[in-house]
Amino acid sequence: MRFLVVIGTLVWAQSLQTAFVGGVTSTSAQLQVLGPGGASVTAECSSSPMFSGAQSQSFTLSGEGFGRVAFTGLTPTTRYYWRVYRAGIDTLRGSFRTFPTDTARLYLKFAFGSCQAFGYTAPSSEPIFQVMAQDSPWLFLQCGDWGYPDLRHDRLPQDSTTFAQWWDTIVASYYARYQGADIQQIFRICPVDYIYDDHDYINDNASGTTMPHISDTLIREFRFPPHARRNVIRAYAEFFPHYALPDTSQGIYHRIRLGNVEIFMCDNRSSRSPDLNAIQWRGDTGFFITPPGHTMLGSAQLQWLLDGLRTSTATWKFVVTGVAFNRGYRQMLQALSGNYTIQRQCALPGLGNGAMLLAGLTDTWASFAAEQDSILSYCRRHGIRNVIWLSSDSHTSAIDDGTNAGFPELMAGNLRQRNSQLAWLMDNAGSLLPAFCPQANLSQNFSVWNAGGQGLGNSNFNDAYGKVEVFGDDSVRLSIIDVNGTRIASLTLRSGQAAALYPTHSLPAERLRLYPSPAQKEVFVEIDPSLIEKPTPLYLTDALGKVLERRTAKPGREIKMHFSLESLPAGLYYIVVWTEKAPYVRSFLKE
Ligand SMILES: [Fe+2]
Repeated sequence: MRFLVVIGTLVWAQSLQTAFVGGVTSTSAQLQVLGPGGASVTAECSSSPMFSGAQSQSFTLSGEGFGRVAFTGLTPTTRYYWRVYRAGIDTLRGSFRTFPTDTARLYLKFAFGSCQAFGYTAPSSEPIFQVMAQDSPWLFLQCGDWGYPDLRHDRLPQDSTTFAQWWDTIVASYYARYQGADIQQIFRICPVDYIYDDHDYINDNASGTTMPHISDTLIREFRFPPHARRNVIRAYAEFFPHYALPDTSQGIYHRIRLGNVEIFMCDNRSSRSPDLNAIQWRGDTGFFITPPGHTMLGSAQLQWLLDGLRTSTATWKFVVTGVAFNRGYRQMLQALSGNYTIQRQCALPGLGNGAMLLAGLTDTWASFAAEQDSILSYCRRHGIRNVIWLSSDSHTSAIDDGTNAGFPELMAGNLRQRNSQLAWLMDNAGSLLPAFCPQANLSQNFSVWNAGGQGLGNSNFNDAYGKVEVFGDDSVRLSIIDVNGTRIASLTLRSGQAAALYPTHSLPAERLRLYPSPAQKEVFVEIDPSLIEKPTPLYLTDALGKVLERRTAKPGREIKMHFSLESLPAGLYYIVVWTEKAPYVRSFLKE
């Protein structure tokens, strides 16, 4: 099968195939070219469509057919025209705008999305790109699953083969991506940035070292060969016109500055802990308990993100991760956790049994609860405003203003994949779960996406993309646009409104002390008496915020309380002191 892929690439590679621009700044751009291996080509760039005074560079494509050239010294906020040619043989053309300077305050718009349904054959029809190109965005962010090269080579649970362990197979996946028929319309008018997600990295829901197999008979992680991960990172650096990559040993995360906007493109795969570490099994029943150190970004990337958000001079800060940030998903993890009936006795249409749904949801941010909360509380503590999350991956699209998600979030994950209807399902789980599994006695309502989306007040499950419009320093509008150009949902956020909504409040360590942590049999809480002016409730909660014990702290000269932990499973817990002014929180681990 792999032999045929290589033959196929030799047959087509007779002419210049494609070219597009990436890594654009206010003064520079990179042109990526794909054509016949070893061909000599010339690239030109000019602010004139007639190419007067053009920058010109000649170079040779690699044996695999890739080449890249940088244009520098460009003028900000200017449309530039590029062409690449072999003299007397063939020419490709396009244009792009250089980005505004950091201090410019303009109307800007960019597009993003994920999940294009092809493998090694370039897709012939992706009509969403025609709609997107008509809108002429400044930038298109491909947020992952730019094809599914993993599916052909997925042999789990027999063995942990992945497409990424062979270099030529990865090369073939890039050939297919770059030759899609309709994406050429985007390539011709705006720059592209890209970060892989699970399927174009290793496999469905993969981590830095493993990939899970999830079926009704087996749920477990399998290790893949470490060189597969290194191959994928190397291929990205060689074949994609990328921004500066701070640390390729930790992945391909990077940042983009576009006027008063900064975009943090996070690699949510290559430093991730195995998803299924967040499930502890007792017999056939899975319990959602995140172990200490459970991470999606890895410590280096997390620090890079937090520092970047704090020091960014941009008005608007967008964080991109493949998977949904929405903190509201914890409600579902909690409902499924430890529930044998729904996990093993009920099948949910299209999702398998409840254990499979629980395992699948461990791929989202809600399952990385401590890291998620650390990002929210960091932004809160440092007064970082206007942070907006963009996510993809889940084959459907929806918006939340931050009430459920933690940050305002636009999820857009179905450029071409069949709609999963997951947003609709999550928001309606309160009635759907009892319908499909009456014996589980679930009577909870779920609120997840409060600002519309696919299936939320409509039945539009068409292909869609996420559109972000920035109105200077005033406001941002987040929209979901379908393949007919219909705006399915939108949300406008004014500056200052888009803060981390999760109510944590910082307090000097000595005013609320909790020890020991990690704890085993018991934990002690010491509260500064000046915090407690009248009887004040104090809660012990689990990682999901479920109250396990309620006490009252009474005013006094010394306030010290003691909680027995002997009946609690290992995991992350919180002590919340709910004063008149604010709730104060301390976390600890039980071992
Ligand atoms: Fe996908």
